[in-house]
Amino acid sequence: MSDYKNPNLILETADLEPGEITWRSPSNLAIVKYWGKFGQQLPKNPSLSLTLSSSFTETLLEYRPRETSETGISLEFFFHQEENEPFKAKLVKYLESVSDIFPFLRQLDLTIYSGNSFPHSAGIASSASAMSALALCLCSLEHELFETLDDDAEFDRKASYVARLGSGSACRSIFAKAALWGETGDVKGSSNLFAVPMGEELHPLFANLHDDILIASKAKKSVSSRAGHGLMENHPFADARYADARRNLNRLIPAMRSGDLEEFGRIAENEALTLHGLMMSSNPAYILLKPNTLEMIERLRQYREETKHPVYFSLDAGPNLHLLYPEDIITDVRGFIEEELKPLCEDEIYLQDWAGDGPEQV
Ligand code: PMV
Repeated sequence: MSDYKNPNLILETADLEPGEITWRSPSNLAIVKYWGKFGQQLPKNPSLSLTLSSSFTETLLEYRPRETSETGISLEFFFHQEENEPFKAKLVKYLESVSDIFPFLRQLDLTIYSGNSFPHSAGIASSASAMSALALCLCSLEHELFETLDDDAEFDRKASYVARLGSGSACRSIFAKAALWGETGDVKGSSNLFAVPMGEELHPLFANLHDDILIASKAKKSVSSRAGHGLMENHPFADARYADARRNLNRLIPAMRSGDLEEFGRIAENEALTLHGLMMSSNPAYILLKPNTLEMIERLRQYREETKHPVYFSLDAGPNLHLLYPEDIITDVRGFIEEELKPLCEDEIYLQDWAGDGPEQV
């Protein structure tokens, strides 16, 4: 498999029309989680996620011929219309790291304008949507300058590969509805290097599954995902975890093909609690859940017991609860959320999202 390094992607003339490219790319929610990595952003176990819809990043990339003869990356960066030095420093580092894949980046002056659809500080991680949106802009730019990526499947694979180098989970956001990342005998063509689409294999029940995100806390999390992945290296349960993730995936795929919501929900909840269990048993140990996260889980389980409605939860690396349920019970579930869960959310904020159609060039 190619590592996409391509010294031929060099502009031969400085006589280039300035241009711009915009992509809108969604976040995703892993049902089987990626937690633990090796090498250059490679996953210790395969993961499968739902691609979301209303939580997205929109990124505009402007490019023009380089005005100076300097050789590094030339970038101006605006987040929600404001310059942001810490984000810019991260992006320059990332663009340097992919400049063997896109050597023409060093020949251009770049400006990036980026913003999220979800509230600034809602405690929602944005690296998946942000890095996938940028990776898509870079692949479109390559195609615009060199006409190299005509084939849609190849375009998506490269975008997924490049997104992975920015943030592992970002590689899954490229595909509509659902994606799988990581080598597994369960899915032909699966790879550690990029995600593969799973949307077309799903039972229609999952095509627009709802994911309402209940904001238990808006605070920035105390331990980053990068540090969390690092703590898996000497984790006493690491090997058991990676084996468990494979078993869960092996059961999840048939459940999602056949429309077995109950099995899907059981796995989603088990994976969410396992993720947080791993954090609580790391050395040093840490807790990202809040008292209201647990209160919401209890209330949800009681509601499910009483109504028999197939509504389940998941969690990301944070305290906010994702409620997963099919379209046909939306009226009941929203009533339950408004009455019982919304008052437990910080500033009563919850976001309404659902499995969506993937990124869009704007
Ligand atoms: O992509 P990262 O390095 O931000 O890690 C994401 C890890 C989880 O969101 C907790 C799980 C996942 O598979 O998305």
